[in-house]
Amino acid sequence: MSLKEIALTLLALFGLVAVGNALRCNCTNCEKTSYECETDGACMASTYFNQGKEQHVRICIDRDNLVPPGQPFYCLSAEGLLNTHCCYVDYCNSIEVPVPTKEGDWSGSASSWGPVELVAVIAGPVFLLCVLLMVGVFLFQYHQRAYSHRQRLEVEDPSCDHLYLAKDKTLQDLIYDMSTSGSGSGLPLFVQRTVARTIVLQEIIGKGRFGEVWRGKWRGGDVAVKIFSSREERSWFREAEIYQTIMLRHENILGFIAADNKDNGTWTQLWLVSDYHEHGSLFDYLNRYSVTIEGMIKLALSAASGLAHLHMEILGTQGKPGIAHRDLKSKNILVKKNGMCAIADLGLAVRHESITDTIDIAPNQRVGTKRYMAPEVLDETINMKHFDSFKCADIYALGLVYWEIARRCNAGGIHEEYQLPYYDLVPSDPAIEEMRKVVCDQKLRPNVPNWWQSYESLRVMGKIMRECWYANGAARLTALRIKKTLSQLSVEEDVKM
Ligand SMILES: Nc1ncnc2c1ncn2[C@@H]1O[C@H](COP(=O)(O)OP(=O)(O)O)[C@@H](O)[C@H]1O
Ligand SMILES: [Mg+2]
Repeated sequence: MSLKEIALTLLALFGLVAVGNALRCNCTNCEKTSYECETDGACMASTYFNQGKEQHVRICIDRDNLVPPGQPFYCLSAEGLLNTHCCYVDYCNSIEVPVPTKEGDWSGSASSWGPVELVAVIAGPVFLLCVLLMVGVFLFQYHQRAYSHRQRLEVEDPSCDHLYLAKDKTLQDLIYDMSTSGSGSGLPLFVQRTVARTIVLQEIIGKGRFGEVWRGKWRGGDVAVKIFSSREERSWFREAEIYQTIMLRHENILGFIAADNKDNGTWTQLWLVSDYHEHGSLFDYLNRYSVTIEGMIKLALSAASGLAHLHMEILGTQGKPGIAHRDLKSKNILVKKNGMCAIADLGLAVRHESITDTIDIAPNQRVGTKRYMAPEVLDETINMKHFDSFKCADIYALGLVYWEIARRCNAGGIHEEYQLPYYDLVPSDPAIEEMRKVVCDQKLRPNVPNWWQSYESLRVMGKIMRECWYANGAARLTALRIKKTLSQLSVEEDVKM
């Protein structure tokens, strides 16, 4: 809007307000009202040519006809054809409007726009509107397409969920697919999440440091679900991280299936899903049953195999770092249906980064279960800069677990009741100081009965235990050495593994 138009509009409004409905104008055709008229709009005077003759018109224009506002059609001039003047005070159209010229030079005209300008004024906004409309339509369609693409990716991307989670697939199929697809660290995260969110919890099967362990059902099969409280998010994350260490999967390490953190609005549920083993922990198993010599060898050899795999560093792109457990005990080892062990509860484990010879988290001085702590952990002389120290501490604990197993071995009709290591030397839930006195100061170890010497298997087990319990960590056997010794024993005793 030009300044002139604004002024005209203001003048019009002012005129209307000032005069109300009674603006009086000259009127060329109003013989009956002495060439006057009244209006609520504007007075108009116009000069034009009709068949070569100059004509003058003065009329009233009603307010309703003053459109569009600011530039009413009735008030427009046309170059060389018509000069028009609208005004808003009484008899203001009595002036002589000059004859239109080609130049349209009459300065008193309400509008000096020519047809080109008029076209531009009308067509410009229309064009702009069209452009805006087209941009709008384009953006809308683009958004729609992007949205449906995303939906498809999430729901039915054939390269992902679809193949992995086909209706008839069992967990075994999923794990098999994963191990043959060359991904050595675990199921894709979206599969983990989908599996976790379709598990139906059945009953509590265990309680530990961080929360509860449940038996759950997925596609008709059993799974174990370890549920962490929201406060324990770091422990949940760490355990999931360790389980997904590349190439960790082994028949004697608990089979990890999925990790999921589900926010229900009030709190976060943290789940770790793994294979379910109905016998529960080795602790539960030994409390319930005694074992045959063959059973003992199976438990001991499989536990050593699991620990040897955990400890072992495998070099190369498909390799794995060395891992130390740091909380090995009979409650953290599960018994499988086939009588073999699976090492579980990797929440406190540390990994060795051999290139830099460092440990992947800052290890704190004393973690784990006091009863199973190695002497160097109890008296804090352990060299934490040296990764092998942690492996040696695991071996000490494995020796204690072997003692628990061997006591339950039924040879020649004799076996002992289940007991925890040091049951006769410390109270239940012993303090570190109580353990340190017994293990470091008095240098006591669990009793290895003489009668074990009469049975080759128990003799070998007794010997291994003693070599796991040396005060000097570096002097202890390695998991691999124990595995080899027991493998040999299993061959001699004709144990089918
Ligand atoms: N996969 C499983 N199958 C059967 N029982 C399990 C399984 N995982 C854990 N449990 C039971 O739950 C107990 C606690 O599990 P664990 O992983 O050691 O948790 P925490 O870190 O709380 O100690 C175990 O001692 C065992 O009795
Ligand atoms: Mg545990």
